[in-house]
Amino acid sequence: VNQGKDIPFNRDWANRRCTMTGFYPEHIERMLNFKIRSDDVWVVTMPKCGTTWMQETAWLIYNDFDFEKAKSTPLMERSPFVEMSGFMPPRPNKPIDTFKDAEELKSPRLLKTHLPASFLPTDIWKKKSKMIYVSRNVKDAVVSFYHFASALGVFHGTKEEFVEAFMNDDLFYTPYWPHILEFYHMRNEPNIFYTSFERMKKDLKGVIKDLCIFLDKRIPSEEILDKAVDHLSFDSMKKSSAGQALQKDMEEIKTDANIKNDFEFLRRGVVGSYKDELPEQLVKKLDQWSAKFLKEA
Ligand code: A3P
Repeated sequence: VNQGKDIPFNRDWANRRCTMTGFYPEHIERMLNFKIRSDDVWVVTMPKCGTTWMQETAWLIYNDFDFEKAKSTPLMERSPFVEMSGFMPPRPNKPIDTFKDAEELKSPRLLKTHLPASFLPTDIWKKKSKMIYVSRNVKDAVVSFYHFASALGVFHGTKEEFVEAFMNDDLFYTPYWPHILEFYHMRNEPNIFYTSFERMKKDLKGVIKDLCIFLDKRIPSEEILDKAVDHLSFDSMKKSSAGQALQKDMEEIKTDANIKNDFEFLRRGVVGSYKDELPEQLVKKLDQWSAKFLKEA
């Protein structure tokens, strides 16, 4: 992986290691050598931190609030998840190549990745591509991740076991804190926009306005801003064709077609879902574990 000489913030604890599937090593080079265009924008997150919500937000802004296209075209097509095909078992009957989808996408591209800084294409750092980073309260992220991983069939176990695996860096894209803190420390770099799920919940309009400035776009009228906030609300996104397509994608990437559940990708969309979903002792464990990273940060 990238040894970090071009990454503005790079500490020893910032990861050189990232848990992926056994399929990913074959694809590392493809990602590191991915061809960058000057107007590319990346959405970078740990899973379940608000990636989809930010993709939809940033896509709208970057595409002059084209609500019609946003409603009619699945988000995965408008904003591909670049390394996804490197993450899954090869499927001879239905091959997918998300690297190629991203390579073939017309400019300006909005690309999604969950990879940590040192696994990103090396040119991102040389050419200073714009990156939007979204963080989320670790306890809500864990709860969301638990439901997601269980529904996909990539995790079979209890919440307790999931939290242990999360803290042991055994789940995809972990370690969690180095991923977030590395970008947090780079938050004042001109090519990095750092925000959080919580801020999006509290002041989506403010985030949109700041993103317009970051993306060199004019802040639109109040009317358009209101329309955008409505389009991006949990309920509208869930009902939209883009939301339905996400649900369909979930079905497709399930590792076990026999898994039947009523999981919905847009699940609760709230701040603090851990309060009624995580037992007290797990809250304590996660808090103690997090405190160590935050002290070092
Ligand atoms: P929950 O599982 O807590 O509901 P990601 O896109 O990174 O996988 O993140 C998924 C999380 O973002 C889910 O959290 C999902 O409900 C939430 N989310 C997606 N769109 C949202 C929106 N428009 N408003 C609020 N939350 C949203």
